[in-house]
Amino acid sequence: MKRLDQQVAIVTGAGRGIGKAIASHYAREGAKVVIAERDESLGKSLTQDLSDAGGEALFIQTDISQLADIADLTARTKQHFGGIDILVNNAAVTKSLGFFDVSEADWEWIHGVGSKGLFFCMQSVAAVMKEQGHGRIVNIASIAGKGYPSTSNIAYAGAKGAVIAMTRIAASTLAVDNINVNAICPGVTRTELYYEVVKGKMKTLDKSEAEIIAMFDGTIPIKRSNEPADIADLAVFLASKEARNITGQSWNVDGGLVCD
Ligand SMILES: NC(=O)c1ccc[n+]([C@@H]2O[C@H](COP(=O)([O-])OP(=O)(O)OC[C@H]3O[C@@H](n4cnc5c(N)ncnc54)[C@H](O)[C@@H]3O)[C@@H](O)[C@H]2O)c1
Repeated sequence: MKRLDQQVAIVTGAGRGIGKAIASHYAREGAKVVIAERDESLGKSLTQDLSDAGGEALFIQTDISQLADIADLTARTKQHFGGIDILVNNAAVTKSLGFFDVSEADWEWIHGVGSKGLFFCMQSVAAVMKEQGHGRIVNIASIAGKGYPSTSNIAYAGAKGAVIAMTRIAASTLAVDNINVNAICPGVTRTELYYEVVKGKMKTLDKSEAEIIAMFDGTIPIKRSNEPADIADLAVFLASKEARNITGQSWNVDGGLVCD
């Protein structure tokens, strides 16, 4: 039997990067996966790939910064699959910004998706999980939320710190309903977002791409940045029955950058 056989899982921001790896790992482990992605072509293309590989996947175009989209995501998932067992809150946005360059619009953009959107996804889906009497929530935070200084910007670090705190509060609130809530804090992970941050740092630090990548990798104790699959492996475990007694934790996957 596969580890997530017949489980219904929503993955936000699943169109590329870490979310795509999680959705693909979940489908491989037998889950029915809802691709909750803002970008229509990315969402449709992954849904097709997962279906072609023999999995069951549904694309629901969703902008998690919009509460109406979140309500629609929850209602349509419940209607289509009859329940929701797992929610992976992965979608987030950022860009490389200096401390004095963060504008109000940057703050609202980053927090609108990364902390506000994530909270209302938890609230909406947890209501369904509460009715069912079980559920798993995996929030993708970041070591930036624990003060890792080479973050893309301070507003992003603040949003990720909020994710870690909300994971704890949600875990203690929802434990009575048999809902486990954990966070994964990735370190440097080679996704499209990573290469966008590299480009930004090239400008702000006036260095080449190779120099910035060497700068990031050189600081990692294990000297290896993550592949998205490194995060997806832990996301499978946290959604599996083996993790039934783990809740409220924030797990670093970072080659040893932050030890806490
Ligand atoms: N890449 C890293 O080094 C790194 C490190 C630490 C944490 N993280 C976190 O991991 C998660 C995934 O990062 P990634 O590198 O794969 O990012 P990415 O930018 O490559 O992918 C993010 C996906 O989310 C989608 N998305 C963006 N805004 C959305 C919204 N409002 N609604 C729905 N979908 C939306 C995008 O279209 C994209 O498909 C994020 O939470 C990020 O903060 C990444």
